[in-house]
Amino acid sequence: MKPDELRRRLEFYQDIGMTTLYRRPATALARGTDAAEADVSGAPPASAAVQPSISLPPLEPSGDTLLRILEDIGDCRRCRLHEGRTKLVFGVGNERAPLVFVGEGPGADEDAQGIPFVGRAGQLLTQMIEGTAKKEGIELRREDVYICNVVKCRPPGNRTPEADEMEICGQFLYRQLSAIAPKAICALGGTAARALTGRKEGVTKMRGRWLEWRGIPVMVSYHPSYLLRPYNQDAKREAWEDLKKVLHFVYD
Ligand code: URA
Repeated sequence: MKPDELRRRLEFYQDIGMTTLYRRPATALARGTDAAEADVSGAPPASAAVQPSISLPPLEPSGDTLLRILEDIGDCRRCRLHEGRTKLVFGVGNERAPLVFVGEGPGADEDAQGIPFVGRAGQLLTQMIEGTAKKEGIELRREDVYICNVVKCRPPGNRTPEADEMEICGQFLYRQLSAIAPKAICALGGTAARALTGRKEGVTKMRGRWLEWRGIPVMVSYHPSYLLRPYNQDAKREAWEDLKKVLHFVYD
């Protein structure tokens, strides 16, 4: 089967909600004619010995755009977070941004306005991006980058999103990142860093280092809410260093 046909076939399975495929040994018939077709079966075959199942990762439609992703999210009720939301917070900024910032999830101000990072932490993030860029001789405004979160609806009481919520919403984050294809990503805080890299460490271990999401460099730094707490002078200096590193990497 040609890659295009295989993609269409897999997209069809995805559209009808099928996420697991089973493999069986190729039969003589399948080997001779269309082995891939024989492998791609929605249910374990009754006769052949069942091989381990393969969980399909979410498949991004080819030629994906932010608009299409937004339409696919729609009036999302895929997880419990929709119950408490006022507005879904998709993301904001330049669709072709070479740099994307990823936070954890909307807070109260973001939930009210439908825009990420507009509350106190957001204002600090904007100041940090624009202020650091200016000091480093880089012309950059907040609207030149793209800003979004791992989960698009506000977790009640600003709690950390649960694993299943991040998994469900993460497919849209991954599609956003694939559609934008930035030169680098800056993960703000441990939750975003773990969601993108699959690592388990805390933010202090990961920050300041280049990690990776599907081949795109990811710089991990502190979440701006953490920097708002008093007595965090060291963290503020470190966050500034992280941001300088990412800005020079992307814009030099
Ligand atoms: N914190 C986040 O992680 N994201 C926002 O959009 C606002 C606060």
